[in-house]
Amino acid sequence: MSVLPQVAPLAEGLPLHSLLDDLQLVMDGAYNPVHPGALAHLDPPPLTASVAADLICAGLNNNLLAEELSPSLSRLERSLTAWMAESLGLGDGSGGVAASGGSLSNLMALVVARRSTGLDCRQDLRVFCSADAHVSVAKALAVMGLPADVLHCIGVDAAGCLDGDALSVAFSQAKAAGLPVMAVVATAGTTVRGAIDPIASIASLCREHGSWLHVDGAIGAVFALSASHRALVPDLDQADSLTVNPQKLLGITKTSSLLLLKQPQLLSQCFGTGLPYMEPSWAEAHGGECGLQGTRPAEVLKLWLGLRQLGEQGIAQLLSSAIERRSHLQSLLEPLSLTLRTGPLHLLAFTPRGLTPEAAERWSLRTRQRLLESQLMLSRPLYGGRHHLKAVMGNPHTGLSELQRLAAVVSRSLEESADA
Ligand SMILES: Cc1ncc(COP(=O)(O)O)c(C=O)c1O
Repeated sequence: MSVLPQVAPLAEGLPLHSLLDDLQLVMDGAYNPVHPGALAHLDPPPLTASVAADLICAGLNNNLLAEELSPSLSRLERSLTAWMAESLGLGDGSGGVAASGGSLSNLMALVVARRSTGLDCRQDLRVFCSADAHVSVAKALAVMGLPADVLHCIGVDAAGCLDGDALSVAFSQAKAAGLPVMAVVATAGTTVRGAIDPIASIASLCREHGSWLHVDGAIGAVFALSASHRALVPDLDQADSLTVNPQKLLGITKTSSLLLLKQPQLLSQCFGTGLPYMEPSWAEAHGGECGLQGTRPAEVLKLWLGLRQLGEQGIAQLLSSAIERRSHLQSLLEPLSLTLRTGPLHLLAFTPRGLTPEAAERWSLRTRQRLLESQLMLSRPLYGGRHHLKAVMGNPHTGLSELQRLAAVVSRSLEESADA
């Protein structure tokens, strides 16, 4: 626990040196994503271009609510979201909007899905996602005022991917019960192990039943930006809407999330209110009418500059090195008495074999502490009713020595629990 400076403003404004001293106190207690042992979450070190663009964005203080408040930046957002949607396979005329985080992108997608399927006035409906989908899906439906039993979580297979046969059965059961299926949320990159749901077969069920397909690619969709990694996240082109979070791996400063749609005009049809205190939009609609947010920062600037700094080669290299680190750690942990949960991306979770859930929880607590003492931070998700340790390999500063140290600490901790 670090010391926090005083929070309330004093009667007189403080001189610069006092402000800097106070700022230092806050910075001393901040989480440090640049540390080579920062492996716990999907919060990588920031790219320099993205940091610079964030500062410039603050200085410009433009507002993405309306074009007259952000003439060039509104156009940049439209162009970049269109480019991103096309690059990820959504086709000609696709596009979207930037949102402050993946939870908001998922919420807006489901609001559009409800409007587009003509189910605005119904509460008796179904939404399907896998048991490993992110909690923001349930949160979105709650915010939309839908009862909790609307969301039906489908089981996953041994690789953590939504079970297509179980989904097909769930569709048939909903039909027999007279419940329309508003949407299926497929995940491209699940939160704990980075699994990719079978999007093509989910899409064909959605087409058959007239349901919306939203792909939550907050973690995985960026892999489709690189020709050499696209095959890891196939069939994104089948999505009606797609969430992508460049903040999670590409080093774009928070927040950076996009909601992309095959038909971006659905956004203004759904969220448009008119802005009677603004000049009309030069295009179809103002940014503030294309989503839930009104006043918005120009988050697009840091995404655009960050991607330009990386270039196609930099993006591909960043993705490859994240996967290589995961696969190296995997090879170090495989000989140990662990159950590994991973997928094709850069996430790896593990738990000891042969322990009760209570003993696995104690082991995870103790081992996480030992790892912290060795300057390595992992997270401790509860997955399938059992505590795991999870390593996210998106930090380019993590080297071989950190991975070897990690495996050694885990191995010692397993030996200790075997001795006990
Ligand atoms: C798969 C997935 N979707 C959505 C989200 C939510 O994103 P955010 O934290 O930006 O709201 C997360 C967060 O980790 C996630 O893992």
